[in-house]
Amino acid sequence: MNHEQITDPAATAGLQDMLASSGYSEKAINYYIQKPYMGSISDADQVSDMTGSCGDTMSIYLKLDGDIITDARYQVLGCAGAISAAMAAVDLIKGKTMDYARNLNDGDVFKVLEEIPEKKHHCIQLAVKTLHKALDEYENANGNGN
Ligand code: FES
Repeated sequence: MNHEQITDPAATAGLQDMLASSGYSEKAINYYIQKPYMGSISDADQVSDMTGSCGDTMSIYLKLDGDIITDARYQVLGCAGAISAAMAAVDLIKGKTMDYARNLNDGDVFKVLEEIPEKKHHCIQLAVKTLHKALDEYENANGNGN
């Protein structure tokens, strides 16, 4: 049981309280604190990035085996909403087909997060748009196998 991201429990508790009082569910808070899919993939098959109208930026790294997304990571320079949405998106697409990921929408990610503040819903859009951009760019570069 090797958990690298153990942080000062007191600091984490304070942060959890702040996020909970601003409208984040426990699940969304856990995604934000644990950041299970934050980072890069050195031998990724596709890397794409996008900057939202708020100025926050995300990069997504996809590892593919044929049509299956075997792994994904996000680097996020952005808010708690952006980070939790990106992490939830990976849980939804890992092991799924590219088509499944292409059909993923903001509502699907919101369901996983359960609750985030209303004014943070555009952060979910940024995570989903970044994913869709990566799928488009991969297909453009490698041909549409269908
Ligand atoms: Fe920019 Fe959340 S405020 S993605």
